[in-house]
Amino acid sequence: MKIFADTANVEDIRTACSWGIIDGVTTNPSLVARENRPFEEVVKEICEICPGPVSAEVVSLEAEGMIQEARKVSSWAPNIAVKIPMIKEGIKAISVLSQEGIKTNCTLCFSPNQALLAAKVGATFISPFIGRLDDIGHRGMDLVEQIAQIYDNYDFETEIIVSSVRHPQHVVEAALIGADICTIPFAVLEKMFNHPLTDVGVERFLADWNKAGLSL
Ligand code: E4P
Repeated sequence: MKIFADTANVEDIRTACSWGIIDGVTTNPSLVARENRPFEEVVKEICEICPGPVSAEVVSLEAEGMIQEARKVSSWAPNIAVKIPMIKEGIKAISVLSQEGIKTNCTLCFSPNQALLAAKVGATFISPFIGRLDDIGHRGMDLVEQIAQIYDNYDFETEIIVSSVRHPQHVVEAALIGADICTIPFAVLEKMFNHPLTDVGVERFLADWNKAGLSL
């Protein structure tokens, strides 16, 4: 499973990339707004740090506006995937952008039918929002399972990005389902490394080594 960093913070992206585990980055308007920097500047810097796909979202709600914004944003770097919301106008825009060879990430997906429509118009990625479904008492991962099954049935090439991840268990479930990608907030990425038995083990090995006066 590919791992994307779900953040617009360049320091966090740099750190996560230095671990060698990051295949791409996703941002959204809320994440970019948190950085207090111009959109174009942040996106370009992220694209330089990470050679994989970097999602940057349009804000227009009409197809024509989305298409214009997408052409502009995608010209900033070759690895940009333009994020387009899962609304009628968004699907219309993705259909045009796919034909132009512009990578798209259909965002705010909450149902298998929405994912089917996005795949039909050639979206590069679909982003089901798992955590937000869990928040309202649904089982977000059921949606990922259904999308995976539908895409498999018809050999759709659209890749599933498990999004709105809240904790490490979401990542495990995404990987067990066989999702193509999981986009993970920095705080969750850090938690994935941790296990108390690892810490105890490292401490004990070192203590025994030092007690015996060994050296390397
Ligand atoms: C990523 O593509 C999404 O925008 C992000 O995962 C949404 O996460 P949230 O539901 O925690 O805002």
